[in-house]
Amino acid sequence: MGVRNLHQRSAIKQLQHEQITCHELDVTKHDQILSVAAELAEEPIDLLINNAGFWLGKDEHYGRCDEAQWMEEFQVHLFGTMAMCEAFVDQVTAGDRKLIVNISSGNGSLTLENGIGDYPYNTSKAALNLISKGLAADLKQRGITVVCFTPGFVATDMSGPDADLSPHESVNAMCAIIDTLGPEQTGAFLRYNGEAVPW
Ligand SMILES: NC(=O)c1ccc[n+]([C@@H]2O[C@H](COP(=O)([O-])OP(=O)(O)OC[C@H]3O[C@@H](n4cnc5c(N)ncnc54)[C@H](OP(=O)(O)O)[C@@H]3O)[C@@H](O)[C@H]2O)c1
Repeated sequence: MGVRNLHQRSAIKQLQHEQITCHELDVTKHDQILSVAAELAEEPIDLLINNAGFWLGKDEHYGRCDEAQWMEEFQVHLFGTMAMCEAFVDQVTAGDRKLIVNISSGNGSLTLENGIGDYPYNTSKAALNLISKGLAADLKQRGITVVCFTPGFVATDMSGPDADLSPHESVNAMCAIIDTLGPEQTGAFLRYNGEAVPW
């Protein structure tokens, strides 16, 4: 598991006592990505989940968008995910499942109307969707399946306590779907419950 600050969160400290190893990894720092990939060079990866994300709240709205912050969202959602998919491709190829899951958002859909207004978030998630389609095509010959998920509106730090789903509900539902994924689903954009999301 990659985390930005190994010492910051008590939940992460707790995880390290279980059968999970945490690696310091900020997806905007390509040297860190390469260093963790080198450290794990001999480890097959069954499932690579790119989950890192953030949202600027009201600062995403018309008239308030700051170009530097907008670029920061592209660095995390787009360039970070691409760098992860490039750096770990050999380990995923060596894995049994050969699966990459990119956590996107319904706000990245050009068809759904619910995301209008959050310009940096929506455009960077739309770009993430597009590279996921490209990766699905490019990595098919390696037997790798690439799928985008929207986790739903989830009560995390990002969406606050009033969201529709608990993290537990969203993650459990996605895990059940991920268990069933194979090459025939590559390039799909799915809701946490497995329904197809319109691009
Ligand atoms: N919550 C929702 O309703 C919702 C809806 C649609 C999509 N999503 C997507 O779901 C994913 C998870 O979001 P969440 O709801 O769990 O939000 P969250 O509680 O804000 O968590 C976001 C996570 O991303 C990590 N992160 C941010 N920038 C990073 C970077 N540069 N390198 C590595 N990690 C980084 C954060 O790390 P730190 O702990 O170090 O800050 C944090 O662990 C995101 O991709 C988000 O866009 C969420």
